[in-house]
Amino acid sequence: MNALAPSPIEQHKRRAGEAAAMLVETGMAVGLGTGSTVRYAIEAIGRRIAEGAIDGVVGVATSVATERLAAACGVPLTTLADRPALDLCVDGADEVAPNLDLVKGLGAALLREKIVAAAARRRVIVVDAGKLVDRLGTRAPLPIAVVPFAWQVHLDPLRALGGEPVLRRDAAGRAVVSDDGLYLVDCRFPAGIARPEALEAALRARAGVVATGLFLGMTEAVYVAGPHGVEVRERPGP
Ligand code: A5P
Repeated sequence: MNALAPSPIEQHKRRAGEAAAMLVETGMAVGLGTGSTVRYAIEAIGRRIAEGAIDGVVGVATSVATERLAAACGVPLTTLADRPALDLCVDGADEVAPNLDLVKGLGAALLREKIVAAAARRRVIVVDAGKLVDRLGTRAPLPIAVVPFAWQVHLDPLRALGGEPVLRRDAAGRAVVSDDGLYLVDCRFPAGIARPEALEAALRARAGVVATGLFLGMTEAVYVAGPHGVEVRERPGP
């Protein structure tokens, strides 16, 4: 095998991202997610703009990293202040449940991702097939964004909810700080998350918890790439 060739997972991420980029049409305002999969979508949107296939497109970035990427790819940026209603949002995920509920936030951008997703008429998630789970919490920890003040007060309540919380730290042992100045508590649930809505309500009721990585009922379609191509999973209608 060619050592420089992208791995199969990287190829799948690319295919999912590039397929979702084809959803962008002239004049759209698009939420731009964060991570290594949506990166391919943003690059492809930039190429489509450069080729003249679409124009008048503006993006709203979900992180400083995505702001920089979009600028490098030639995708013009705007803000939710100027464009509060987005036509589309494309983002990645860490886990996708059968009903299209998600865990997100391993890239630390969950708060902005949630704000931007909430502003979009259609939310499309791009993943490789390894992100599919039968139950949320079985593959990834649940990231929880908290204010740094007294972040420790959340640990025992999280344990009481069946979790194993750990403050996210960088390689030097310093607390990771999000673009919005928040800490991330990554909480493993050894048996998975049995009742995501109840957990979300319990966590959001705590002073100091700003957002969780649970994205429940916030996804219209998931583009899943695997060895057999890209499969589109749509949320069942009401
Ligand atoms: C960023 O905070 C996350 O929500 C990402 O969207 C998620 O971690 C997926 O990233 P990858 O595509 O890099 O796996």
